[in-house]
Amino acid sequence: MGVTKQDRVIVIDFGGQYNQLIARRVRECHVFSEVYPHTIPIDAIRQMAPDGIIFTGGPNSAYKEDSPSISSDIFSLGIPILGICYGAQLMAHLLGGTVKTAPTSEYGKTIVSVQPGSMLFKNVSMDTATWMSHTDYIAEAPEGFTIAASSRACPVAAMTNAARKLYAVQFHPEVNHTVEGQKIIENFVYGICGCQGNWKMSSFVETSVNYLRKGIGNGRVLCALSGGVDSSVAAVLLSKAVGKQLTCVFVDHGLLRKNEADEVEAIFGPDGPFDLNFVRVNVSGRFFDRLAGVTDPEQKRKIIGEEFIHVFEFEASKIGAVDYLVQGTIYPDVIESGLGGSATIKSHHNVGGLPEHVNFKEIVEPLRLLFKDEVRQVGRELGIPEHLVSRQPFPGPGLGVRIIGEVTPEKVRIVQEADYIYREEIDKALQGWYAGTVDGLTKRGKKAVSPGERKGEIPIWLPDQYFAAITNMRSVGVMGDGRTYDYAIALRAVHTSDFMTADAVHLPWEILDIVTNRIVNEVKGVNRVLYDCTSKPPGTVELE
Ligand code: XMP
Repeated sequence: MGVTKQDRVIVIDFGGQYNQLIARRVRECHVFSEVYPHTIPIDAIRQMAPDGIIFTGGPNSAYKEDSPSISSDIFSLGIPILGICYGAQLMAHLLGGTVKTAPTSEYGKTIVSVQPGSMLFKNVSMDTATWMSHTDYIAEAPEGFTIAASSRACPVAAMTNAARKLYAVQFHPEVNHTVEGQKIIENFVYGICGCQGNWKMSSFVETSVNYLRKGIGNGRVLCALSGGVDSSVAAVLLSKAVGKQLTCVFVDHGLLRKNEADEVEAIFGPDGPFDLNFVRVNVSGRFFDRLAGVTDPEQKRKIIGEEFIHVFEFEASKIGAVDYLVQGTIYPDVIESGLGGSATIKSHHNVGGLPEHVNFKEIVEPLRLLFKDEVRQVGRELGIPEHLVSRQPFPGPGLGVRIIGEVTPEKVRIVQEADYIYREEIDKALQGWYAGTVDGLTKRGKKAVSPGERKGEIPIWLPDQYFAAITNMRSVGVMGDGRTYDYAIALRAVHTSDFMTADAVHLPWEILDIVTNRIVNEVKGVNRVLYDCTSKPPGTVELE
């Protein structure tokens, strides 16, 4: 069951790393956008009748036989098209222009000189900083095209055929390094495609609630509530649509963060602000029993997933016949789990599994089309408390993917305590930062940044996800007069826009120092704290 919408610009993926980012940028213009593989039939596009089409970049050469391509019928649909990087070269190649390989690649920040007159560059500076990443280039634009921009190494940095509504840019307007990139995307979606910008989260809530209410009728709905942002938002959206026809089952598998299970109950349970049928099952013992002695990460994930399904299945059977099963699947889950055509990286148990085991008629995925920040916005619209809405992502298998080696109650306790301290200190540092007092960043009278100067600014060290994990390493330390032989905790903090790639955050030393001191002093069983500086790839965000 999906959700209807109005304005729509589709992104056709030719293997570029920024395909999702393009869709996000379009949505930032309040225009709905989805990514489709380049194999999508032209008829399907014709039927969908989007307001615009964007071709992504990609690592191939447009002129090679086996490179990803698309039927040139697409150019005759009368729908505006913007080609980006490989997408631009493909447009040139398919329409009779010349694409060549340059002796050296053009990579990084590049000033592009823009010719006046094109709608694509309306209000864009004549010399504008863009992000280039290519070896092939358009040597000659196809007939009917005007060269709209060029750089030192790139004769056709942009080309347009306004009569056919075809536009192409060699650079990447979707990345932040292209300073006026968002303006260019806005010019395309508003000025060229004629979109109104009517994709808003408030209208999403209204449309979804009506749609769900109508589609579900008197049906009974079951939801696996994890307390994470996605399932919480999905549950409240559903409860708004069908009230007590919805039952939420919350499985406390013992692998949640410190105090988390009680916090979830406080919000969604009988004393919380939402009138939900809420069932909490405490089954940590079962999970620990099954995980005993298991060290392989994928095996642990499988066990946690399976056990979760067993518990859920049992609870569902108590409720009786169910018509719909809610899944808090969001757009990046759909893509990363391979359903969108990309390779499966890890088994995400929030997407697969459950449906095969619960007896129901249909799956409801009310957030399937949304990016994370949009889900949070919907949560706010629904009145879910801010601390839950802005909560950082927490994986379905919980602390099971933050414990190296065997999962034991002792290691869970250690990682919970350490993680709590880490999050508490980052929160304190942030509060101090925003207040301009930087309390959290001072130590021994030394100020890490000058107060006031940074007031209200988003700190560059603000991570998108941060947590503590427990390594399986124990080492010798000294505590007072005694020798210790205890665990090492690893702290992780990453910057990422899509969780598919990530960089380690340069956390201020002052924070790491405070956190380390607190963890080794307050958490029994830890005598060492390490900071994980690895990016993804080659690492992953989680430490398992
Ligand atoms: P990785 O470790 O795959 O993490 O680089 C990327 C993002 O996905 C989250 N993650 C999961 N989320 N179920 C989830 O719901 C899972 O099995 C799972 N594994 C990883 C991780 O927290 C990070 O945000």
